[in-house]
This record gives sequence, structure tokens and C-alpha cells, in this order.
Amino acid sequence: MSLNSFGHLFRVATWGESHGPALGATVDGVPPGVAVDAGMLQHWLDRRKPGQNRYTTQRQEPDQVEILSGVFEGKTTGTSVQLMIRNTDQRSKDYSEIAEKFRPGHADITYWQKYGIRDYRGGGRSSARETAARVAAGGLARAALDHLAPGIEIKGYMVQMGPHKMNRDRFDWDQIEQNPFWVPDAQAAGDWADYLDALRKSGNSVGAVVEVVARGVPAGLGAPIYGKLDTDLAAAMMSINAVKGVEIGEGMAAAELTGEANADEIFMGNDGQPVYSSNHAGGILGGISTGQDVVVRFAVKPTSSILKPRQTITKSGEATEIITKGRHDPCVGIRAVPVGEAMMACVILDHLLLHRGQIGDAGGKIG
Ligand SMILES: Cc1cc2nc3c(=O)[nH]c(=O)nc-3n(C[C@H](O)[C@H](O)[C@H](O)COP(=O)(O)O)c2cc1C
Repeated sequence: MSLNSFGHLFRVATWGESHGPALGATVDGVPPGVAVDAGMLQHWLDRRKPGQNRYTTQRQEPDQVEILSGVFEGKTTGTSVQLMIRNTDQRSKDYSEIAEKFRPGHADITYWQKYGIRDYRGGGRSSARETAARVAAGGLARAALDHLAPGIEIKGYMVQMGPHKMNRDRFDWDQIEQNPFWVPDAQAAGDWADYLDALRKSGNSVGAVVEVVARGVPAGLGAPIYGKLDTDLAAAMMSINAVKGVEIGEGMAAAELTGEANADEIFMGNDGQPVYSSNHAGGILGGISTGQDVVVRFAVKPTSSILKPRQTITKSGEATEIITKGRHDPCVGIRAVPVGEAMMACVILDHLLLHRGQIGDAGGKIG
């Protein structure tokens, strides 16, 4: 069993706990000749790093990535790439409270029920520090995509915070990098700032919806039935900590549409490629990419560690109360954005490699 791995040909195994000496990813199936260095991966890790603004946790985790293998003279060699991030904030703290009590909304109780042993320091393996390893692997996937299929662009952004949705009529790509929420709507960014400030001060938290788009994905990635691109994307996004729902394209809202409204009509474009009137399908039909934008959305639950007292039980079954002290993100959806982008990059690269392996250049032509 390999329950710490994902991917078929581009295969990522993550390892490590939040308060162990280090964590990282072993990435197998990396194509040779991809130009990459630690600085390129660091760029993506810095976007996930905590403490960048007052809306993310003030924990200091520099998250410096080291490449231990699989890269020679600035290029991948085709052998496995070992990525390591040392945990620097390992101060011995008093963990007796969370060692004995199960924090509501955390994996404490289920890890205990399943394994009968758990590293309770900072959540151990269930801590979202693990997502730093995925972001590093995602950086590697982006470098490989640039090498094999230049022009693919992957972008994540928040479209909803709590009950507050962004206004799609104001959608502005340039805004995404301009505000702490990665929201492509300047007005929403201002409104959300006030909303989240009030929540944070009251010791509470809130959920979010993140959208990730891959542009420039060629038609033909993915396979029927059990190898669907959307199946793998849904699994990849659902594996992110705190994610409770995943949609592709129209998603749940497709249930409200008629067949006439939902049909993405097909026309022949001037450049000899098909064009579609709309993208309700989210760029995937029958599990295979259409060449349109691949659009995935996921719902992130509110941060479970809050300063509000909650009822729980101890390991010995006694009723008790818990307040999770410490520094936590009031909305973990913000830092989930770079993680969603990384998972998209890994899945798209994996399917590009599968496609090359099975099909090569033998696809059907139109016109
Ligand atoms: C980037 C990121 C950061 C997170 N940080 C926190 C945090 O500071 N406090 C917290 O309670 N949960 C945090 N979470 C969520 C927990 O890791 C997660 O809810 C917990 O492990 C239980 O797993 P589940 O929600 O997937 O069932 C974070 C999630 C992500 C994606």
C-alpha cells in the first residue's frame, strides 16, 4: 500500500510531521532535462508561507526547500527528486492538553481510533504543514510543464469567503496578486478584509471557496472510465486539508440547468481548431480535456482551532472543554490557494505524461 503517494507516472510521496526534524516529498517519474533549482521551487513555497499578512497565522516557518537528489548541473536527470524542508520552529512546548483532549474538527480522534498512537505535536502528520511538500512538488511539476508543453498557465484564487461571494462581473486577473486573499475583485478584497478582521478579533474563523484554472491545456489529456482527468483532479483537491467539497466546471449548479442551457456549443474556429460557446463542462468531456480552460473549485471548511470554547472528550472518555490557543489562520482558504495550484500542476503533468506514453502524436484530427 502506498497511502502517502499520488499520481501515476509523475508520482509524489510526501513524508514528515509538523514537529519532526523535516518534511518533504520524493518525486518519481520526473522527465529528464528540466531546468530547475531550489529558488524556482522557493518562489511557490513563499506564496504558501505563513505570516505574510495579518490574515494568515503569524507562526514563523521559513519553509526553505532543499533539493537532495535527481538534479545535476541545474537539470533533472530522470531519477527521483528528493525535496526537503526543515522544520525550524520545534520549540518544546506543553502539548499535554492536546495529547489528552481531542480537538473538535481536527484528526486527533480519528488518528487515535485508527492507529492507537499519534504524534500530537501540532497535529503531526495531519497538520497542513504537509502541504508545503506538495507545493514544492507542484513547483517541480510546473517546471516540467514549461519544458514539455510551454504555454500552460495555472492560477488559483478565492471566489468566496464565508457567505460573501466575489462579483464575477468585476473579474480582474491582475487583482489576484494585489490583495492578501488572491481574489480577482478589488472591491471584494476590501469588504473581506473588514469582515475577516472582525472575525479574527472575536477569536472565530470562516470557510472559503477556491477556484483553480489551468489555461492552455491541450485537448486529449485524461482517459475514459477509471482514468478520468476530472476523477484525478477531484481526488487531488479533496486530499488537501480542510477541503470538504470539489466541483468541476458548473459543478453542483449543473443540476439546476436545462440541457439546452448547459450545452457548450461547438463551432469551427478560424485557426482550424474547434471553439466552444461556453464552458459549463469545465474543460473536460468524458474524462478527457477539450482544450478549454480546466476549471476546478473546492470548498474549505473554517479553521477548527478557534479561541471559542468547544465541548469535547478526553482519551479516557471524560467530557471536557477546549480552547485551541496558539496562532492560527482565521480563514485557511487563503493559504489553500497555492496548494490547489500545486495539485493542479501535478495532475496535469501526470496526465500529459500518460498521454505521451499511450498516444504520442496519434490523436484524431478535425478538418
Ligand atoms: C494551508 C492550510 C493551513 C491550515 N492551517 C490550519 C490552522 O492553522 N489551524 C487549523 O485548525 N486548521 C488548519 N488547517 C486545516 C487542518 O489541517 C485540517 O482541518 C485538519 O487536519 C483536519 O483535517 P480535515 O479538515 O481535512 O478533515 C489548514 C489547512 C490548510 C490547507
